[in-house]
Amino acid sequence: MGNLENAVIQAVRCLEGTFGLAVIHKNEDKIVVAKKGSPLIIGVGENEMFVASDVAPILEYTKKAIYLNDNEIATIKKNEYSIQDLSGNNIDKKIHEIKWAVDQIEKSGFKHFMLKEIFEQPDAIKNVLRGRIKNNKIKLSVNVDLNSVERIIIIACGTSWHAALIGKYLIEKITGISVEVDYASEFRYRKPIIKEGDLVIVVSQSGETTDTLAALKEAKSKKAKTIGFVNVVGSTIAREVDSGIYLHAGPEIGVASTKAFLCQIVTLLLFALFMKQERGFDLDEELLKELGKIPNKIKQVLVESDNIKHIAEKFKDAKNFLYLGRGINFPVGLEGALKLKEISYIHAEGYPAAEMKHGPIALVDKNMPVVFVASKDHTYEKILSNMQEIKARQGRIIAVVNEHDEKLNHLVENIFKVPITRNELSPIINVIPLQLLAYHIADLKGIDVDKPRNLAKSVTVE
Ligand code: M6R
Repeated sequence: MGNLENAVIQAVRCLEGTFGLAVIHKNEDKIVVAKKGSPLIIGVGENEMFVASDVAPILEYTKKAIYLNDNEIATIKKNEYSIQDLSGNNIDKKIHEIKWAVDQIEKSGFKHFMLKEIFEQPDAIKNVLRGRIKNNKIKLSVNVDLNSVERIIIIACGTSWHAALIGKYLIEKITGISVEVDYASEFRYRKPIIKEGDLVIVVSQSGETTDTLAALKEAKSKKAKTIGFVNVVGSTIAREVDSGIYLHAGPEIGVASTKAFLCQIVTLLLFALFMKQERGFDLDEELLKELGKIPNKIKQVLVESDNIKHIAEKFKDAKNFLYLGRGINFPVGLEGALKLKEISYIHAEGYPAAEMKHGPIALVDKNMPVVFVASKDHTYEKILSNMQEIKARQGRIIAVVNEHDEKLNHLVENIFKVPITRNELSPIINVIPLQLLAYHIADLKGIDVDKPRNLAKSVTVE
């Protein structure tokens, strides 16, 4: 008679591509698991064991996790496990203790995890900042030489890519170092040019996104220095990078990323400031002071949730949305559009506001809601004229503006007023009403907000 482990080993040797396998046989009281490329963890419980692609689903049952590596085979029984390599040799693996608490993965009275996570954002920001700013100095443990960095490439997917775009504005403005942002899936296949002095930053909530991981491996194969900004401790990307900074957002269960996005922006900002400091420059104390005020300013927006719901009622049946912003708030428009489309299934596009006249303006008529992010910065007057162009075509304008801004009242159908902050920090505040707008529209449409169709929390396929 054959042996299940040997059969899996032989099969795995023949397999091409990426996979995570859990194999059972009707005569055997065990599960044999194997992986390549895709994440696979084993949860070690009391009289029970778990197999999952992420720690979040097992947290309720156990805090002990083993991360399987490629070309390792694990045999799991009710009370024991063993791990072998493809030659059948036994391997000893460390059991990781997961620090997240169970109440962090409960809804705590909120209708959905997404809403809870939106409301957790003030605390999430406090956590990402905790212990990292002291006496106007940034404290980060980054184990790569930053002084020799001449160019930065940031790689990410989805919402993390939007955070990366904001990171580009921040790092270039604060350090003067040139930054490129790439979709992980494009970076990995376009034979990217990596030179000495290049630093590759990967941004990922889950730390398991297959495209991001593959792009990281491509960067490493070209000898780039790599840093990961990751939320899930011990995840594959966190283990693969040369150095990392954890986001400390806590577990994010809702498929639509919210609090991790904010923590990514803050981490990118801290990193930019840290680089400046490492190069011997003083930091902008006013900016650090304002950063400390951000959690309270977010709370001021969150109390408007019910008002935003009223606006959502008016627009829930729209078929299309446009989101427009400029400068550092252009990626906020992209993120607003992504949030809306992924959970409400309404088609939405984000554009730099000035690009509108190069094509998208053809879509504007009395049925088109256009969401503007219009903070008072050096692009404000330009945004105003973009709004007039939309108004002239009877588009329905919704605008996120600074408090006390009355100048746009005559142009807009609905307005979200948000507290004033520094331009560098404005995306953190401006995205909140857009998250809430998407959430309320999706909820009013009766969609399962936390598990929208066709989407997964960790995208572990190519
Ligand atoms: O875990 P990651 O940050 O690497 O995930 C990247 C994207 O898959 C993710 O941001 C996705 O776009 C979310 N559904 C956005 O809400």
